[in-house]
Amino acid sequence: MKPSILNKPELKEARRRTKELVSTIEFSIPASAMHLGDGKRYTIHTYGCQGNEADTERIKGILEEIGYAYTEDETKSDLIILNTCAIRANAENKVFGELGRLKHLKVANPNLLLAVGGCMPQEEVVVEKILKTYHQVDLVFGTHNIHKIVEYLEILSGKKTKVVEVESQQGDVVEQLPAIRTSKHKAWVNIMFGCDEFCTYCIVPYTRGKERSRDPQHILDEIDQLVQEGYQEITLLGQNVNSYGLDFQDKKYSFAMLLTDIQATSIPRVRFTTSHPKDFSMDLIDVLSKGKNLMPYIHLPVQSGSNKILKMMNRKYTKESYLTLIQSIKQAIPGVSITTDIIVGFPGETEEDFLETLDLVKHAGFEGAYTFIFSPRSGTPAAMYEDFTPVEEKKTRLQRLNVLVNEQFKSGNERFEGQEVQVLIDGFSKTNQQVLSGYTPHNKLVNVVGDASLIGKTISVHIKKAKTWSLDGELLHDKT
Ligand code: SAH
Ligand code: SF4
Ligand code: F3S
Repeated sequence: MKPSILNKPELKEARRRTKELVSTIEFSIPASAMHLGDGKRYTIHTYGCQGNEADTERIKGILEEIGYAYTEDETKSDLIILNTCAIRANAENKVFGELGRLKHLKVANPNLLLAVGGCMPQEEVVVEKILKTYHQVDLVFGTHNIHKIVEYLEILSGKKTKVVEVESQQGDVVEQLPAIRTSKHKAWVNIMFGCDEFCTYCIVPYTRGKERSRDPQHILDEIDQLVQEGYQEITLLGQNVNSYGLDFQDKKYSFAMLLTDIQATSIPRVRFTTSHPKDFSMDLIDVLSKGKNLMPYIHLPVQSGSNKILKMMNRKYTKESYLTLIQSIKQAIPGVSITTDIIVGFPGETEEDFLETLDLVKHAGFEGAYTFIFSPRSGTPAAMYEDFTPVEEKKTRLQRLNVLVNEQFKSGNERFEGQEVQVLIDGFSKTNQQVLSGYTPHNKLVNVVGDASLIGKTISVHIKKAKTWSLDGELLHDKT
């Protein structure tokens, strides 16, 4: 079948960075499409990071605005979207598996539209594979053109055709996208898109385009709106939030300045992710030390403790400078909880390099870490590096690292035993429907017996016992 649009990604183009001005696009729905989804249902599955979760909320917003209704039941769905992640091979394999599984639904319902969006379509190899092998896919779109999904659905409606459109240019900023937010009290707020770091292992700068910051006023307006809607917590999103504002050509306005302005709003809790250690400024530490609604929890990916490996990764800091940074943060924010991301088995990582990582984990006192085995991503420099370490050895290193990380996770919980903490209640615990769960300012998971009326509220809890992954507490009184 000949596609109506066939616009494939180009890695070379995606790698390009210019000083070209970023344009801001105001989203709107064409009048012709206002009722396109009336009576129809859609399902969406999300893989990957918070950025993708936030994108899914926008896709839902757009679809519901044109009449689609959400369903979990794929057999009743007219449109199934996979919002995908390209960060590691196993993330991608899951999606290819899903596509295989969904094929039979197309047989049962020939009108079903199957769409693949997100980071995977930004890769040349993935689009080629979909075109060659996964004929059941009707629509392929990327991270830069979510706002054009209505246009694509119009082309596909009632016709037997395909749309493959992936843009590899640096990307725009799209404002006024509607959203159906998953939580009624916690919200994602994008502050910037893209990444210019080009860590040698990472596909994100290719899948998300150039670093581009949202206008501060747009961000503050969104936060005001969330406050009015009763939201209790926001998480500011960007691949490297510390370089927020560096791309502004008309003003000097940094992440520290943004946080200062957000500190003055009445949103009760503010978090942000992810910080790159190289851009963590003294100004930023200074703002954070004033606390208020800025939570004493920082996720600061280190990736490795070996200076040799950090250099090969293009991380632009050393083990020593990282530890000095951690010291400054801990001094400025007493009791702060710090977590990290670590990659083991990077090409050329020796036992000695790995021991440096273990040593760093101890000295930094991380209270949690996402740990990964290096996964070569096609088109990134590290995918070409010579790698002599057998996969079994990498798995053993991962296990050894996890033993240490888990011990520190537990000690991080233990320091709250006997204390009174403020918990923003998310809902009932996954494992027990009598028990509520939520997070403390330090991002510790707390379980406490209580009723549904407390969901979305911040309550005082007395911590009785620390377990490895969570804290058990007792309700003191309702703060609100
Ligand atoms: N922008 C964030 C991280 C985004 S990706 C940052 O710089 O910290 C989340 C994590 O996935 C990374 O921190 C890294 O630990 C891991 N990761 C990225 N690429 C990877 C790869 N090719 N193989 C294994 N892990 C990877
Ligand atoms: Fe990837 Fe590095 Fe950018 Fe993070 S900072 S998204 S790890 S390139
Ligand atoms: Fe994955 Fe894309 Fe996020 S690759 S981690 S979904 S930016």
